[in-house]
Amino acid sequence: MVFFAFAFLLTALGAVLLLMRRWSWCSCHVCRAYLTGSWAKEFTNLGDWYAHLLRESPTGTVHIHVLGCTVTANPANVEYMLKTNFDNFPKGKKFAELLGDLLGGGIFNVDGDAWRHQRKMASLELGSVNVRSYAFKIIAEEITTRLMPVLADAADKGTVIDLQDVFRRFAFDTICKISFGLDPGCLDPEMPVSKLADAFDAATRLCAMRGAAVSPMVWKMKRLLNIGSERELRKNIKIVDELAAAMIQERRARGVSNSHDLLSRFMASVGDDAVDDKYLRDIVVSFMLAGRDTVSSALTTLFMLLSKNPEVASAMRAETPAGSEAPLTFEQLKGLHYTHAVLFENMRLFPPVQFDSKFCAAADVLPDGTYVSSGARVMYHPYAMGRMPSIWGPDHHAFRPERWLITGPGSSFVPANAYKYPVFQAGLRVCLGKELAIAEMKAVAVAVVRAFDVEVVDRNGSGICAPKFVSGLTASISGGLPARIRRVRNLI
Ligand code: HEM
Repeated sequence: MVFFAFAFLLTALGAVLLLMRRWSWCSCHVCRAYLTGSWAKEFTNLGDWYAHLLRESPTGTVHIHVLGCTVTANPANVEYMLKTNFDNFPKGKKFAELLGDLLGGGIFNVDGDAWRHQRKMASLELGSVNVRSYAFKIIAEEITTRLMPVLADAADKGTVIDLQDVFRRFAFDTICKISFGLDPGCLDPEMPVSKLADAFDAATRLCAMRGAAVSPMVWKMKRLLNIGSERELRKNIKIVDELAAAMIQERRARGVSNSHDLLSRFMASVGDDAVDDKYLRDIVVSFMLAGRDTVSSALTTLFMLLSKNPEVASAMRAETPAGSEAPLTFEQLKGLHYTHAVLFENMRLFPPVQFDSKFCAAADVLPDGTYVSSGARVMYHPYAMGRMPSIWGPDHHAFRPERWLITGPGSSFVPANAYKYPVFQAGLRVCLGKELAIAEMKAVAVAVVRAFDVEVVDRNGSGICAPKFVSGLTASISGGLPARIRRVRNLI
């Protein structure tokens, strides 16, 4: 016992000494505000404080010295990192370490040849007509058979439901069916607890906590000793691993040749015998991360904004073809330019991935003149970028879908420059599920808006459109989104 206590103290002392050597001390007002948390007196979220600092900065870039991190909202810098000098701004080893226990060698967590190889395979599969039409069929089915009945039930009973929870269940069922051909049934009427969804939630939250720590030494020490949050992380990753292994085995047993889910396509394209289970497990987990919380986050903030702006919901209704009660086809959805603009305007203000970090391999100078040393972290910040007057004009704070239409209402959607709006990232690593995600969100938005009015219940009076986000890899609202549902048309 005495020996263990002594060993622990010695290790902890070593860690503190190492921490002191590596930690950049700074007492500037920004670092002080970060370390003491005093920014929270004025701002709801860390992202709101960063947006404020970036608006004040003449270059749209700031440096948080104690984190060794440059934060930028300058589109020229974003283009430089994501395209022009892409090879000098990999995700880097430090990021890979943060998520490595959960994501392994999956596409999100690797650079270089390992990334190139998976990207090529994933873009071939996600771009194929078979996979796309399979995915759209799954989305339509989940909307008709699960989402709409759950909302209709809430409308008929007059109950308040947590829309964020409903959309997370919807997105989890959908991505699992598209990615692995298996149905977790999270949005069944009795809203069952899913062991996989819960373990996955906990694991992503705990990995995000690692990234928020001032020094990685803290979580590394806890992992070594298997204590606290790291013990919890290990437990949840084990559950994810076991369930992913079961999924892979089931796929193998069922045969992959006639299935259109992504896992089967991957297994078929490389030859099932040529891949090991660990590689497939990493693909499974990466797609779960990619497709679940992103889509549900965007849908949650969309309905929060529509509740506050009912005229936008009415304009969406007016845009859908009159006369037919049937769900819209993929082609019909594509033609809805106003709805498209609404989705993009929502994600400008509330991007599901609020920031993204890269590591600078060799010392470099960004286009705005900022010097970045070798090994430093550079973060571009879509949440702050959506709040920059230099990009969106003086009405940047307003929810105005028309800003995306060529000549206002009734005209065509025009995309913004990808580096001014890196919500799906941009350049060489742009999101591979972008088209699928847009189709999914449009299908849900149109189906719900046609049939229901959604009224967000502002329980704590914090202001419907100024949500407090929980820290995590994707944005989720603290306390969920309580809402009351009313029928406008009897479509189900
Ligand atoms: C609103 C929905 C979505 C948003 C906002 C979004 C956003 C993003 C962002 C910001 C990245 C870069 C992440 C990083 O490198 O750290 C990314 C990458 C990726 N996304 Fe999405 N995503 C969405 C939905 C989806 C869906 C539904 C899928 C798959 C079915 C998907 C598949 C991927 C993949 C495979 C990558 C990795 C690309 C690479 O590293 O080369 N995404 N996405």
